[in-house]
Amino acid sequence: MRYLTLLPYMWRSPVSDAVVALVRPEPGERVVDLGAGMGPATVSAARSGAQVLAVDPTPFMRSLLALRRLASAHRGNITVVDGSAESLPLDAGSVDAVWAVNSVHHWTDLSRAVKELERVLRPGGRVLLVDEDFDDPAHPFFERMRARHEGRAHHFEVVDPEAVAALFRSHGFVDAAGGLEQVAARPARMIRATRG
Ligand SMILES: C[S@@+](CC[C@H](N)C(=O)[O-])C[C@H]1O[C@@H](n2cnc3c(N)ncnc32)[C@H](O)[C@@H]1O
Repeated sequence: MRYLTLLPYMWRSPVSDAVVALVRPEPGERVVDLGAGMGPATVSAARSGAQVLAVDPTPFMRSLLALRRLASAHRGNITVVDGSAESLPLDAGSVDAVWAVNSVHHWTDLSRAVKELERVLRPGGRVLLVDEDFDDPAHPFFERMRARHEGRAHHFEVVDPEAVAALFRSHGFVDAAGGLEQVAARPARMIRATRG
C-alpha cells in the first residue's frame, strides 16, 4: 500500500518514456516491462504496436495495472503477468527486448535474474535496466526522497551498474555496459546489454 502514496510519480514518468524510446519496441515484437508497477513504461510501449508483457510479482501492482489496461486504447497489446526477474513464466527465446525502470534494486538474486534474461531473450535481444539515482543531489526528487527516508534504513541494495554489466558479459551477452547517465535529465544507473 506504500506504493499508493507514490501514485503521482509512478503513473506516468518521463524516465519510463525515455527508456521506451531507447529500447524502440517495433510493431510485432514481444517485449517485457520487468517490474512494471503501475505501468508507465507499459502503456507508453503499447502505443508502438509491440506486444508488451508487464511482469510484476506484487499482486496489488498487477491489479492496478490490469485496471489501467482496461482503460487503454492499446489494451490488446498489453498482457499483465505474475512473475519476477528471478522467475519469468515465459518460453525460452520468446522475447525481443526487456527493460526495467526503478526495479533492479528490488531484485533479490541478480545472478538468477541474468540467467532468466539469457533464457527468455532471442539471440540479438536487447536489455536496458535503469534505476534513478535519488541519492544524487542533482536529482529533482533528492530532497523529497531524503525526507521520505528520514530516520529509516535503506532497505534496498544500491545497484552497481558496472558489476551488473560484467554479470551480463559472463553470461555471453555482448555490448554490455553499465554506468551513471542522465535519463530524461535525471541522474540514473543504467545497464545495457544484447543477448549474444
Ligand atoms: C519502484 S517500483 C517501479 C515500477 C515501475 N517500473 C515504475 O517505473 O514506476 C518497483 C517495482 O518492482 C517490482 N519488483 C519487486 N521485486 C521484483 C523482482 N524480484 N522482480 C521484478 N520486479 C520486482 C515491485 O513490485 C514494483 O512494482
